[in-house]
Amino acid sequence: MVLVPFVLAWDILLNIGNAVLPKRKKGKVVRPGHAGVGGKWPEFIAPTEGDSRCSCPALNAMSNHGILPRDGKNITFKQLNALIQETYNFSPSFCFMVPHIGASMLKKSYWKDSFNLADLDLHNGIEHDASLTRLDTHLNRNQAPPHLPFVKELLESATGRDEDGNPLLTEADVSRMLVKRRKEAEVANPHYTTSKFHEVFGASNASTLLTIFGGRVADLEAILIDEKLPEGWESRILEHFGLTVIAFNKVVSRVGKGTEGEKKE
Ligand code: HEM
Ligand SMILES: *[C@@H]1O[C@H](CO)[C@@H](O)[C@H](O)[C@H]1NC(C)=O
Ligand SMILES: *[C@@H]1O[C@H](CO)[C@@H](O)[C@H](O)[C@H]1NC(C)=O
Repeated sequence: MVLVPFVLAWDILLNIGNAVLPKRKKGKVVRPGHAGVGGKWPEFIAPTEGDSRCSCPALNAMSNHGILPRDGKNITFKQLNALIQETYNFSPSFCFMVPHIGASMLKKSYWKDSFNLADLDLHNGIEHDASLTRLDTHLNRNQAPPHLPFVKELLESATGRDEDGNPLLTEADVSRMLVKRRKEAEVANPHYTTSKFHEVFGASNASTLLTIFGGRVADLEAILIDEKLPEGWESRILEHFGLTVIAFNKVVSRVGKGTEGEKKE
């Protein structure tokens, strides 16, 4: 991981840039020339037999809209970097780092290799037990389809409200649901495994629901159930350089702390 100091230094600069530069305007988060500009996403087509999908709703949605190849195959890590940046407005530093982690978990080269979405479901590589939206691998080999009872329970757990009274997931809701999934997985899955590392990744994936998707239950229904970006949807991140590693980690760490509080009950 020789890249870590480089990515952090870059991230610090982007964070400063975000503090001083004007935010993107609502309705204009996606920049001209990219998929989703003006809230118009390329056509949604549900996956068909033979298409490759994975346990990540955000990446599956990109293939369902043809932003990533519709068959979910032969995707380069470099391509993933550029496309997640434009689609979700994560910072370039984050979008450089995450596919690097993915490539190293799969023992592939970030610079040269490609992968199929299903490759990401390597159990206890990136994919892990006690997810918010998937049954554990031991209980369902196929990690691609969301487990709808989990998704429904997650969305129904939302205690926040926006200014118009629409339900919003809060940090506390996500922490509580992460703990609930872990406790239930421990009972339901005789092969249940966990580690600090996977708990942090779990909290990290879950924190995208609060940041990129703003906790908005109406949007999350489409994204987590159909793996579809709603018409007119755009990332809730308005910062010029997108959501940096530093800014994201603040949310992840609060969500993680929230799960520790829950354990002591
Ligand atoms: C290189 C990019 C990415 C990779 C390799 C990746 C990989 C994964 C994997 C393997 C999982 C399943 C983890 C589990 O077992 O629960 C996952 C879940 C998830 N990811 Fe991604 N992901 C990426 C980018 C993103 C982005 C950009 C977003 C949001 C905009 C996102 C949002 C999520 C969410 C919400 C989950 C579900 C968490 C859960 O069910 O508990 N991911 N991702
Ligand atoms: C994968 O994509 C590359 C170009 O990006 C192409 O040269 C190669 O033939 C493709 N491989 C398969 C198996 O489709
Ligand atoms: C989701 O978790 C995986 C590991 O489980 C990680 O590689 C990826 O970076 C995470 N994605 C986000 C957006 O936090």
